Amino acid sequence: MKIGFIGLGIMGSRMAANLLKKGHELIVHNRTREKAQPLLDQGAAWAGSPADMAKQVNIIFTMLSKPDAVAEVALMGKHSFLHKLPPNSLWIDCSSVNPSFSRLMFVEAKQRKVRLLDAPVAGSKGPAEQAQLLFFVGGDSGDVKEARPLLECMGKAVHHIGGHGMGSAMKMVNNLLLGQAMVAFSEALVFGESLGITKQTMFDTLASSPVMAPFLNFKRKKMEQNDFSVEFPLQWMHKDLHLAAETAYETGAALPAANCAKELFTLAMRAGLGEQDFTAVYKVLKEKK
Ligand SMILES: NC(=O)c1ccc[n+]([C@@H]2O[C@H](COP(=O)([O-])OP(=O)(O)OC[C@H]3O[C@@H](n4cnc5c(N)ncnc54)[C@H](OP(=O)(O)O)[C@@H]3O)[C@@H](O)[C@H]2O)c1
Repeated sequence: MKIGFIGLGIMGSRMAANLLKKGHELIVHNRTREKAQPLLDQGAAWAGSPADMAKQVNIIFTMLSKPDAVAEVALMGKHSFLHKLPPNSLWIDCSSVNPSFSRLMFVEAKQRKVRLLDAPVAGSKGPAEQAQLLFFVGGDSGDVKEARPLLECMGKAVHHIGGHGMGSAMKMVNNLLLGQAMVAFSEALVFGESLGITKQTMFDTLASSPVMAPFLNFKRKKMEQNDFSVEFPLQWMHKDLHLAAETAYETGAALPAANCAKELFTLAMRAGLGEQDFTAVYKVLKEKK
């Protein structure tokens, strides 16, 4: 079984590497070809375009930045893949997108007799490398059953949340918490520092208490050392909070705190921090001396 993988950024490159390591025959494509080279060196084949890939496989993974990118690669123009996939193929979209977009893609796929799962992930660069991701999956049970062994090559748990769009819905909820927790913790750090408490003392004191979100332990070293090198790009956290706000408009939910957090990420974007790690939102709050 040949598997296609499109989108070899921070996450996709590591996820695809794990499929290869588990012995799967992989064909890869990325807009920027150089990023595919390490995978080609490990035995993956190259497809010149998403459409070329679709002629050779009947399972395609996508791991792209945002809905526009997914729509472009799947649907738009002669290089897109959806119109070239054989009937009954399975498309597994791991990109973080909004649930109504996933449902729109499901309709587009169904018209072309292609099956779709939305299967975004929780876990960052490290968990992607170590095959420790969590998958939140939306779609038909039979398709989830078929995809599960492949997802388990890349992650430690596969949660089937519900029908089409529900994996993306769970991902919106997950990142709403993540973004707000990062803003809240950054604010607490800046406040504590203004009182003369070092970051190290705050981490030492809070790390074992229930008030600190456990994921912050993974960020501790970097935050203590003011190392904002990218694991989860700040621009994608900003995007996720924007997509959550759009989704809440559709459902009627009120997200006052999340929108406040979103605007701090907007300020971080305007300060040129979009390609740094999302922990860099701390810099927006930290007073300049
Ligand atoms: N990093 C994390 O910790 C993390 C964790 C969970 C979920 N996610 C989500 O996973 C997805 C990928 O994130 P990432 O961190 O891997 O981001 P990334 O390193 O910025 O990679 C983004 C990928 O999307 C491609 N892309 C963007 N626009 C495109 C377009 N118009 N046409 C074709 N390809 C396009 C990029 O191609 P190029 O290489 O040519 O730019 C690249 O392959 C995002 O939805 C993100 O929110 C990330």
